[in-house]
Amino acid sequence: MKSEELTHIFSQVFPDAGRCAACRVPGRVNLIGEHLDYNGLPVFPIATAQGITCLFAPVPGNEVLLRNLDPKYAPRQFHNVRGIPAGESGDWSNYCRAAIAGLNRLLTPPSLPGMALLFNSDLPVASGLSSSSSLVVATALAYLRVLGVALDTDISRLKLAQILAEAEQYVGTRGGGMDQAVILNAIAGHAAKIDFFPLRIEHVPLPEDIAIFVCDSGVRAEKSGTARARYNAGPLLCRVICALIERQLREEIDEDFVLPRLGDFFYGPLCLTQREAGELASRAIPAPLMTLQMIAGRLQLGEDEVRSRYLQDLPAPPEGFPLQARLRHVFSEFRRVEQFRDALLDGALVRAGQLMYESHQSCAEDYGISVPGLDALVEAARGAGALGARLTGAGFGGSTVNWVGAEAVRTYMEKMSFWCSSNGLNPDASLCRMRASEGAVYLV
Ligand code: GLA
Repeated sequence: MKSEELTHIFSQVFPDAGRCAACRVPGRVNLIGEHLDYNGLPVFPIATAQGITCLFAPVPGNEVLLRNLDPKYAPRQFHNVRGIPAGESGDWSNYCRAAIAGLNRLLTPPSLPGMALLFNSDLPVASGLSSSSSLVVATALAYLRVLGVALDTDISRLKLAQILAEAEQYVGTRGGGMDQAVILNAIAGHAAKIDFFPLRIEHVPLPEDIAIFVCDSGVRAEKSGTARARYNAGPLLCRVICALIERQLREEIDEDFVLPRLGDFFYGPLCLTQREAGELASRAIPAPLMTLQMIAGRLQLGEDEVRSRYLQDLPAPPEGFPLQARLRHVFSEFRRVEQFRDALLDGALVRAGQLMYESHQSCAEDYGISVPGLDALVEAARGAGALGARLTGAGFGGSTVNWVGAEAVRTYMEKMSFWCSSNGLNPDASLCRMRASEGAVYLV
């Protein structure tokens, strides 16, 4: 939709609002490095050309008024107060509340203004392209402008990304910081290798002779819905693994050691090699499946204590948690991200593709985040000549990302379109070529 049309709609929907400004916020496609960010390990996404356009203006009082041109999202409004209460679980306004609450905590503005926001998106929802974090970032950019805080001058994009990653936990997802970081910092034509704690980004140019496609499985994975509990199982189990390793270190080196994240194996005081880390982990987690009872025994805690400290309401499977497999994914995916970066810089595109296939297998078998629809799409991409394919984003549905040599694009598209049509997917809606685009910007 043209910007004049949007401005016209804005003034009709919000007759009391002042003159509106606008921002454009992309989504993201992760090329490799899944479920690593909350472990403090690197990821490798791009920002998409598709995204959310947000028109906004201050309004008198302290009401925040939300409208979405997608009729699936009913109008919402809430008071801008200190400690904004969450709306109903799963409500789309929670992403906007999260952004404003997070900025209020950080900036402690003397007064809390009202504003009107109108969203128009060409980013499919729950497709693994981070539409929810885009909504958080769009709301944050609008609010900063209304507060008179200048992005890049008063607050850096890296700092804002960190704040919003934390702020988004408001919706109940224990996500890491990948989405907000790339959405705010991406450079067109580049993938971003992102490291965490502290947040830092290396922009790696994408070669001309590669095409990136996203293929939507049609299996919906709303981060605010049931996928949330399944997503959170990842960070919770990684935390249990850290606790078991802390315990092991206490026994071996007789020191109280705090290991907040699995990435701390490799950085900071421990500074282990991958091999050393693997050996330590196998001493700490001796069996492939660890029951709640086994975990409690090793931690020398009661089962209730393990639940309340680490597992919360995560159901405990009677056969035990697959902790070794979860850790295997984290370590091997970390290696693959580093190798992917090197492959890109060396122009080794076939190698980069292989790493993506390996990543998918690890996500599916060791991290348990794939679903049959995603596995089938990866195999279809292989059959259609893609150099690499894997699920992208949180998993449990959403999309695959496909890595296709420029010379093979036509055949790939023909074969994938045929596959989609034969498997109940509309190729025009499911298959989409992605261009690595720039991060969020103000339009006016
Ligand atoms: C979601 C989260 C991210 C990241 C990915 C998985 O998109 O928001 O922080 O953990 O899942 O890599």
